[in-house]
Amino acid sequence: MIRVLFVCLGNICRSPMAEAVFSSLVSDAGLSGKIAAASAGTSGWHAGEPPHKGACQIMDAHGISYDGIHSSKLKAPQTENFDYIIGMDKQNVHSIQQLKTAASTARVQSLCEYGDGSWDEVPDPWYTGNFNLTYQRVYEGCKNLLAHIVSTDL
Ligand code: 4NP
Repeated sequence: MIRVLFVCLGNICRSPMAEAVFSSLVSDAGLSGKIAAASAGTSGWHAGEPPHKGACQIMDAHGISYDGIHSSKLKAPQTENFDYIIGMDKQNVHSIQQLKTAASTARVQSLCEYGDGSWDEVPDPWYTGNFNLTYQRVYEGCKNLLAHIVSTDL
C-alpha cells in the first residue's frame, strides 16, 4: 500500500480538498486497494471540524465526496506512516520537515512539484476566498501525483 498524506495549515480548506480529490481519482482508477490518502494540518486550530463551507461547495459542484473527513493536527510519529507527505505551500513543507522524525522515510514535497510549472503554491482560500482556483491546482497536482505513483511505485 502506498500512503499519501496531504498537509496544510488548518486542514479545513486545501488539504482536505486534496485528500478528497486524490481519493476520488484513486477510486476511479480502481486503485483503492493499493493507494491510500489522508490529510492533516500543521496547526490544531480547527481540530475535529469538517471541511470549510467553501471547500464543501466546490467539492459538491465537482461531485467529490468528503464524507468522514475532519481536521486533525499533524503529529511527529505520523510522519513515519506515509510514503509521500505533500504540503500545499512553502511554509507547510518547512513545517513538515521540522516535524519529520529521523525514522521517517516519507518523501516530503510541495504539490506544486506535480503542477504544470506555472505555480509554486496552492493559494489559501481562507485568505483569498477563491476556492475555484485552489480546486483547479489541487486537481492538477493530484492527477499528476497519481500518475507519478502509478509509474514509479506500483
Ligand atoms: P487551510 O486554510 O490551511 O487551507 O485549511 C486555513 C484555514 C484556517 C486558517 C488558516 C488557513 N486559520 O487561520 O484559522
